[in-house]
Amino acid sequence: MARRRIEANAELFVPVNLTLRLPGAYRGLMNESFRPIEEGVATDLRDEMTYASYLQLPTLLAAQQPVSDHHDEMLFIIQHQVTELWLKQLIHELRSAMALIAVDDIPPALKRLARIKVIQRQMFEQWSVLETLTPIEYVQFRDQLGKASGFQSPQYRTVEFLLGNKNAGMLKVFAHDPALHEPLAADLAAPSLYEEFLRSLDRAGYDLPADVIDRDFSQPYERHDGVVAVFKTIYDDLDAHWQAYEMCEELVDVEESFQLWRFRHMKTVERIIGFKRGTGGSSGVSFLRKALDLTFFPELLEVRTHIGE
Ligand code: HEM
Repeated sequence: MARRRIEANAELFVPVNLTLRLPGAYRGLMNESFRPIEEGVATDLRDEMTYASYLQLPTLLAAQQPVSDHHDEMLFIIQHQVTELWLKQLIHELRSAMALIAVDDIPPALKRLARIKVIQRQMFEQWSVLETLTPIEYVQFRDQLGKASGFQSPQYRTVEFLLGNKNAGMLKVFAHDPALHEPLAADLAAPSLYEEFLRSLDRAGYDLPADVIDRDFSQPYERHDGVVAVFKTIYDDLDAHWQAYEMCEELVDVEESFQLWRFRHMKTVERIIGFKRGTGGSSGVSFLRKALDLTFFPELLEVRTHIGE
């Protein structure tokens, strides 16, 4: 009986010669193993801008400098560098979204956030590549990393500040380098994406508390009943407040995606180093786990509890 079932299934998957089933125009194409270069293809590139020169490939591809001779260190470097490139793009989009919101130009700001979410998905998926690094492989070059740690990533800290996780203590890590410290200190002291949004709601006539829209932005954000009340007004009548509602939901998406990245980082670290301390000096996984309780947009979560009341 079991055997008959296998045979029946096997019949379903009998390999067919695809080329026999394709329309005439595609037939020969499938079997080619050589593609001649077409006549119009540029091959004399003297004095021209090329792919390699435009993208500065010699510089980009010279930036992977392992400190050990262990095979797996290249993956470790590239995973970090690719993340830094995506963080660069994220910051580019975030700054643009914030500038647009600051002048109440909301539709293109929503477009920026849509792209940010796709980048975040990419950054999340990327962890699966580093997860192929086993503890045995990592331990062979870990000691050579000294105190270097992602905790010292200036771009990551920039994203945290732009999204609103303000913590002046983080600046200490950059005190040795004014070129990193100064722009981060400026971002710490400026309104976050969320605060730009709250300020634009205020300009649009929503009744936001004065001490929320104008405060010392370098201090951690504190939730406010008045902000929950504004969001309740928005969620209670979507037709009347559609654009604000759309922005609220985009922000919730961005926060969730950011949390997913933090979670996946924590799980990757857990499977690679267990509960060892971090190279940057923290307790490791338990320190990373604490970040999962942080929220950028507290009232946007809180209002959900009151929906339908
Ligand atoms: C073998 C892989 C990795 C391990 C074992 C690891 C481990 C750690 C640990 C233990 C911390 C806490 C700070 C410390 O004490 O060092 C940390 C922080 C951090 N790591 Fe990783 N990490 C890895 C890969 C990555 C990658 C690929 C990135 C991408 C850029 C990254 C970005 C960060 C960031 C941004 C922080 C700061 C997080 C925060 O402030 O909450 N890490 N990492």
